[in-house]
Amino acid sequence: MPAYTATAPGKIILFGEHAVVYNRPAIAVPVNQVQARAVVLADLKAPAGRVWIQALDIQLDSSLDDLPEANPMARLVRLFQEHVSLDHLPACILRVSSTIPLAAGMGSGAAISVACLRALSAFIGAPLPAEQVSALAYEIEKLYHGTPSGIDNTVVAFSKPVYFVRNSPIEILSLGEPITLVIGDTGVRSPTSGPVEGVRRAWQADRAHFETLFDRAAEIARAARGWLESGEPDRLGSLMDENHALLVEMGASSPELDRLVQAARHAGALGAKLSGGGWGGNMIALVDPARAEQVSAALRASEAVNTLITRVL
Ligand code: PMV
Repeated sequence: MPAYTATAPGKIILFGEHAVVYNRPAIAVPVNQVQARAVVLADLKAPAGRVWIQALDIQLDSSLDDLPEANPMARLVRLFQEHVSLDHLPACILRVSSTIPLAAGMGSGAAISVACLRALSAFIGAPLPAEQVSALAYEIEKLYHGTPSGIDNTVVAFSKPVYFVRNSPIEILSLGEPITLVIGDTGVRSPTSGPVEGVRRAWQADRAHFETLFDRAAEIARAARGWLESGEPDRLGSLMDENHALLVEMGASSPELDRLVQAARHAGALGAKLSGGGWGGNMIALVDPARAEQVSAALRASEAVNTLITRVL
């Protein structure tokens, strides 16, 4: 049976989460050590047009027709069918798996959508360009939280560092020097919708103050872009620390995230911050490569359930 396999990376946000929802710039990079994977197998024995979806990590093993309308995997496949103007796909099995932690700020939902879209479009012999993959994945992101900025689907679909501003053309970043990051997982699962809603309420209660916080996050993202492109990553550490302080003030952090951020700094990181929606999930630390293991060990000693060292090129 012919099989069409596609993958998509995880991601972290280097600068500007939350502010990006309010039209400020943010920077995100792919993390290739973790991946979503989709395999499409033609199912020659199945009735015509039957699509079987298997995502055993989330206990999904069902025919598309038996899934509720609102199921994100069902929505994704139907959206794809509409996009390519097919009433039915050829009968197939869509198998999905992922090593990206769920609800942890690493873009697992976007990566699953992107991997499925890549595999399905290869299966029908019409691979989609990254812009279209990103636009379709964005529709699914909306199911997870009502007002996604679109940064997750963009960085995952392009699989490159991006400077992202909502409703603006995507800008791929070329780094002057690679950077090394240690990613630490608090082990606390936190769907993006929680902190996004929390920040929204706080913004509604004190717009003037929150607009100032978002403006400062925007300045940080712009400055960081400059240092990334000119190849002076050492300058990014203090910007990360300041961005974390802003996120604390926005109410997006948590005791676990703050503990890991502190531990990374004490172990010699150049800077550290939470990454993604917050209230749990992952934090990141910028490190000199020679210090990466030391920072990773310090995070584990401070109860990180997992750490990853990644080099962004
Ligand atoms: O999906 P997460 O947890 O990586 O968060 C995405 C970043 C936010 O700025 C908090 C939300 C968004 O839509 O941009």
